[in-house]
Amino acid sequence: MTPIDIRATIQAAMRTAFPVVEQRVAHFYAMQEYHLGWRDAELQPALFDPGKLLRPQLAILACRAVGGQTEQVLPLAAAIQLIHDFTLIHDDIQDQSDMRRGRVTVWKQWGLAHGINVGDGMFIIAHMSLYRLTDAGVPAPVILDVLQRFETTNLKICEGQFLDLSFEGDLGISAADYLAMIERKTATLLAGAASMGAVVGGADAATVAALYTFGLSLGLAFQIQDDILGIWGDPAVTGKPRAADLYRRKLSLPIIYALRSDNEAAHPHRAELQQRYQQAQLHDQDVERVLIALEAAGSRRYCEEVALGYYQQALHALDQVQSGSGTEAAAALAQMRTMTAQLLGRQT
Ligand code: IPE
Ligand code: IPE
Ligand code: MG
Ligand code: MG
Repeated sequence: MTPIDIRATIQAAMRTAFPVVEQRVAHFYAMQEYHLGWRDAELQPALFDPGKLLRPQLAILACRAVGGQTEQVLPLAAAIQLIHDFTLIHDDIQDQSDMRRGRVTVWKQWGLAHGINVGDGMFIIAHMSLYRLTDAGVPAPVILDVLQRFETTNLKICEGQFLDLSFEGDLGISAADYLAMIERKTATLLAGAASMGAVVGGADAATVAALYTFGLSLGLAFQIQDDILGIWGDPAVTGKPRAADLYRRKLSLPIIYALRSDNEAAHPHRAELQQRYQQAQLHDQDVERVLIALEAAGSRRYCEEVALGYYQQALHALDQVQSGSGTEAAAALAQMRTMTAQLLGRQT
């Protein structure tokens, strides 16, 4: 399948997960569809950016790489993307973000209470999608295994969000604290996608474990890249405001590095960086000063190197995966490599 086909196929599977809707509650589901890019702010059908659909693609490729079929893994792929979208709806509330994928966030559009409820609805629909693995002919013990992994993953994401929220305003957090946080809030879902895809495909335990490690390393690299984009990304490409993470005083890796590195050039700026990051609000001139401090510390280059290290670890883990028999499986494994390489240096 070409990338366009696969994206359309994933979204079709997501649509299938939605129930038949009574008119009285149509707006509840329409708000969910707004977030997914399927409706505009007037809740009319539309086609906006649904996101990269990275995680469901990983699940599908992992399943195929071990010799499984796309049709069998689609309910899982849809569930994983719906969980991701649920976390984004709630994350935008938690982070008070106004924009997501270039559009106004659900809570900003319809208020906090609806935002929470719309996110809750999507969480449940994600689960309903998973139960459709039965219709796809996946054996019950495999579904149970996937369900357990799915819930463990979802809980870990909440742990990660807890750590992220707890770190706010704490300039003492270390790189190890940060890694423990991003492993949970981001990397776990990529690891879950790749490993659960392999479980549905019937892989052995060693292969499932290797794909989990692959997803985890890829997820760490991915979030560090996200932190780089959160400061230096182009708003026209990321769909988020310029230097958004700085205005929110987010303690991402570039900031932690500038606050703690031994780099001599960073020292003169450190006290000022601390002082500005402790202000209740950052204004344009504060952000400019923070950017200068990050530049002096070499934060961007450092983070790019750390991300590269994790990408390489991810590729190394893929080397441990033996593809299933047939050219289809080998091609899927090769596609996972290509995808990993493409994510390095992503701009969105
Ligand atoms: C955004 O994830 C949140 C993170 C965990 C970094 P993505 O960058 O995959 O977001 P979309 O789905 O493509 O918009
Ligand atoms: C999002 O993390 C992670 C989850 C939703 C679990 P961030 O808050 O760092 O990501 P963006 O910048 O809003 O996409
Ligand atoms: Mg956020
Ligand atoms: Mg967040």
